[in-house]
Amino acid sequence: MASGTSRDVIRRGLWVLGRAIREQPRIFAVAVAGSVLFGGLVIASAYVVGAVVGDVVVPAVEAGEVGTGTVALAAVALFGISVLRVVGIFGRRLGAGYMQFRLQAAYRRRVTRRYLDLPLAWHHRNATGTLLSNANSDVEAAWYPIAPLPFAVGTLVMLVGAVGSLFVTDWALALVGLAVFPALFALNVVYSRRMAPRQARAQRLRAEVSGIAHESFDGALVVKTMGREAQETARFAGRARELRDSLIAVGRLRGVFDPLLETLPSLGTLAVLVVGTVRLRQGAITVTELVSVAFLFTVLAFPVRAIGWVLAELPRSVAGWDRVSRVLDATGEMPYGEVTLDDAGPATLAFDGVHFGYEPAEAHLPGTSVLGEVAFTVPAGRTVALVGPTGAGKSTIASLAVRLVDPDAGTVTLDGVDVRRLTAASLASTAALVAQVPFVFDDTVRANISLDRPGIDDEDVWAALRLAEADGFVAALPDGLDTMVGERGTSLSGGQRQRLTLARALAGRPRLLVLDDATSAVDPRVEAAILAGLRAPAPGQPAAASILVVAYRRATIALADEVIYLEHGRVLARGTHAELLATVPGYVDLVTAYEQAEQERAENRTYDEVAPLPTGLEIEVDR
Ligand SMILES: Nc1ncnc2c1ncn2[C@@H]1O[C@H](COP(=O)(O)OP(=O)(O)OP(=O)(O)O)[C@@H](O)[C@H]1O
Ligand SMILES: [Mg+2]
Repeated sequence: MASGTSRDVIRRGLWVLGRAIREQPRIFAVAVAGSVLFGGLVIASAYVVGAVVGDVVVPAVEAGEVGTGTVALAAVALFGISVLRVVGIFGRRLGAGYMQFRLQAAYRRRVTRRYLDLPLAWHHRNATGTLLSNANSDVEAAWYPIAPLPFAVGTLVMLVGAVGSLFVTDWALALVGLAVFPALFALNVVYSRRMAPRQARAQRLRAEVSGIAHESFDGALVVKTMGREAQETARFAGRARELRDSLIAVGRLRGVFDPLLETLPSLGTLAVLVVGTVRLRQGAITVTELVSVAFLFTVLAFPVRAIGWVLAELPRSVAGWDRVSRVLDATGEMPYGEVTLDDAGPATLAFDGVHFGYEPAEAHLPGTSVLGEVAFTVPAGRTVALVGPTGAGKSTIASLAVRLVDPDAGTVTLDGVDVRRLTAASLASTAALVAQVPFVFDDTVRANISLDRPGIDDEDVWAALRLAEADGFVAALPDGLDTMVGERGTSLSGGQRQRLTLARALAGRPRLLVLDDATSAVDPRVEAAILAGLRAPAPGQPAAASILVVAYRRATIALADEVIYLEHGRVLARGTHAELLATVPGYVDLVTAYEQAEQERAENRTYDEVAPLPTGLEIEVDR
């Protein structure tokens, strides 16, 4: 690290610390007060020890007797100083701890809050691992130097006081102090500067080692089935070796500097004794003063280290702060509007002249257009199927419909109101998306479905489960609704996970349901039963909703009132399934191809094993 940049790091690090102090000024004042009290008492203790030696010990040795009063006074003074020092340490530690952990908690909250405000486009550009470390280790790193900061500030005050008291005692001894204290300070600075890059490297390697381990465990299935155990182990071992070497480098540096930092004050004490003896002979100082100053040098060594601790943490703090503020300063959140829709019956969804392109990962590249001039309507209570080859933009349309992203041009409306004008609550209660990739929380079945939304009781949960054809398997689970489903729902089959996420959407009684290939892992008969149930719910079930469904299976598509055929982000045709079959060759090819794939799948029995359909729900799907 060039000295210019490291000076820059120290300047910016001090700015970050200044910000911390501005956020928690009172606690910081308490901690510094404790630290200054401690520092003052360190100096005082040196002079009391000097006085005890000069006025109690020396007379006792020389005359063989001391007044009990003097001894008692010395004892009280030493005891009083110790008690006050404890108070000072307590105030400093408590204040520093409070300040550090409060800042950490506050910034964790701010960062995670920001994640929820930032648009999906921002999340697409940022890896999950990065987001986790932003909220965790980066926030922690930013506020690491807070712990030793009050100690360091108190120590600076103490050093000034110590030099001042030296000058009052004797100028020659003060000169020794003026040589030793700055040298100690400089040694600390050099130490921190050398240490910082080594520690940063160790920190980075630690993250990489755990990253590799995490990936290998996560991909255990691939690693095992592809016979990559040896390569994975080698990859891990290489990085672990690097980490070991880098930690040894840290230890080596410590081995050199720690003894130096210990030795320097001792050399100072030695210099004080040499100079002091001369001054004592000259009659310039007393024994009391000489002992006081010599003692002062030995007790100062430790607090001076605190300055080094702060300096050593500054680079890490600046790096952490940069990563945290990148999140806090990120823009592009989608502000919600003020309009609330009436909660009556199925909603009408309309796309009008919608254009959309994902932001490029590199800001200077042009975004590629994914959707162009997309226009269609899902009338209230109707079911519209979205059909198109992979990559055509079906999931993108689904995201636009529930406003996970906003169009670049054109409008998406619900009941005639631009979705950008709706409140967050109104949008969430009106439209629900069941995503292509189901997500299940590591919680109970009940919590996964109700999500703690108000007004959803167990009866609603069961109703939603029935509609999603999931009541059978949930009832068979060991603890029913209270069953924990494991991380990402690992204890469930793919189709069970899909039906749980469907039930979650249904439990909120949405007026528009957007199903993005949400039943692909479910047996086709069950899928058709689900859709039929959604279109014409039985009494006591959530009311009917308008449905936009991304579909592949002929049986599913045939249930729709209208089919929208999409290719390369453009609506190529729309009409009933029969009309499109008769007029659009691409559509025929696609549906036929799906059907063949479907048949092969069925023959290979790759479907989710489902509980037999409850009687009465068997329906004719062979249209
Ligand atoms: N987060 C993203 N960032 C950049 N491009 C994306 C992103 N998501 C999708 N795309 C691109 O947008 C296009 C449409 O993707 P989309 O997911 O909407 O297709 P799809 O019709 O749902 O496909 P599939 O049938 O495979 O689910 C694709 O070309 C895809 O590469
Ligand atoms: Mg998709």
